Amino acid sequence: MATINKNFKKLAGNYLFSEIAKRTKVFSEENPGVEILRLGIGNTTQPLPPTIIKGLLHGVKKLADVKTYTGYGDEQGDMRLREALSDRYKKLAVDIEPLEIFISDGAKPDSANIQSIFAADSVVAVADPVYPVYVDSNILADKKKIVYMPCTQGNGFIPSPPKTKVDLVYLCSPNNPTGAVMRRAQLKAFVDYANKFKAVIIFDAAYCEYIYDKSLPKSIYQIAGSQSCAIEINSFSKWAGFTGVRLGWTVVPTDLVLDGTKKGEVNALWNRRQTTMFNGASNIAQEGGLTVLSKNGQRECQKVIDYYMGNARIIRTSLIKMGFEVFGGENAPYLWLKIPHGFTSWGFFDKLLHQAHVVGTPGSGFGQNGEGYLRLSAFGHRENIKKALNSIKKNLKP
Ligand SMILES: Cc1ncc(COP(=O)(O)O)c(C=O)c1O
Repeated sequence: MATINKNFKKLAGNYLFSEIAKRTKVFSEENPGVEILRLGIGNTTQPLPPTIIKGLLHGVKKLADVKTYTGYGDEQGDMRLREALSDRYKKLAVDIEPLEIFISDGAKPDSANIQSIFAADSVVAVADPVYPVYVDSNILADKKKIVYMPCTQGNGFIPSPPKTKVDLVYLCSPNNPTGAVMRRAQLKAFVDYANKFKAVIIFDAAYCEYIYDKSLPKSIYQIAGSQSCAIEINSFSKWAGFTGVRLGWTVVPTDLVLDGTKKGEVNALWNRRQTTMFNGASNIAQEGGLTVLSKNGQRECQKVIDYYMGNARIIRTSLIKMGFEVFGGENAPYLWLKIPHGFTSWGFFDKLLHQAHVVGTPGSGFGQNGEGYLRLSAFGHRENIKKALNSIKKNLKP
């Protein structure tokens, strides 16, 4: 008789976003005609720039001609795109070979799947609060022990390496949900820890193009010694608005060595995993990706990022003016609002919804240390963001 994977029962469930939807729906039904202003969504809203649309159309047109038609491509991705990404790393003064880069359909699947190449008894460290995929994917795979690295106001929402020995460490910088960005020295402490204990860092850099401060690292490979201990996962989603198009990549350096493996073996393992379980990213998406990396594409994507970061600035300055304490939003599209004394995350979520008709994301949904915070996002339309802030100013009672 077939039985289910009982680990599904150990997951916290889709509690956060389904509960937000439920409470918002109840409010809307009780208050018909009231406009709900969403300040919490992590989804992109702006159209793709012209150069990228041209690239995607080029991909479509190639499929219409027998001479240029392609079916399945290489599971590892189009070599032109792998080379273009390798060139992108060169601009960061980082040497990553095209064969170390695996194109995928996004950072979420890669960050969920990467655990599959590590032993089931691996001890896993994650930040608290955390992007839930890192935790849930490891629970489903029956990894027995998860260690939490607290991120609080006291440490600027930046974790410190665990006090005990762990095998895998997930880091996300710029961070979802807190908007905090790790400095070089903070990242170096993790690289030193990983090299010392032969641990592997899984570095999610999905928001790295939102870093404006040039002293902050966009890639973990900007830290000396990281190629022997770190895998980097990245995405075209927030960089180029590919949330619906779907394209990402993972770097597994040849130098990455685990207990009992030789140089190149971990890279080969991920290659084996991908060739077995994945059939390659969309050829149309990859044509689009190539144009993202072109000079015009980068300039146009930067304009969209500037727009979102303009939103972040407006949210930040307006809320600070109103007397709130706000973190993040300077090198990241997320803002971490400290909730006024006396409210829980959900309590303040309700107050904001009922009084100002604004929807945020309760920080407690990302982990224990998220309690007392609300995640706000800069990905909305400017006019909606302004409406939301005006409503908070006008309608939120002290
Ligand atoms: C930290 C982080 N990683 C990955 C993703 C998802 O990336 P993708 O759209 O490439 O799957 C998100 C999306 O919200 C994210 O916040």
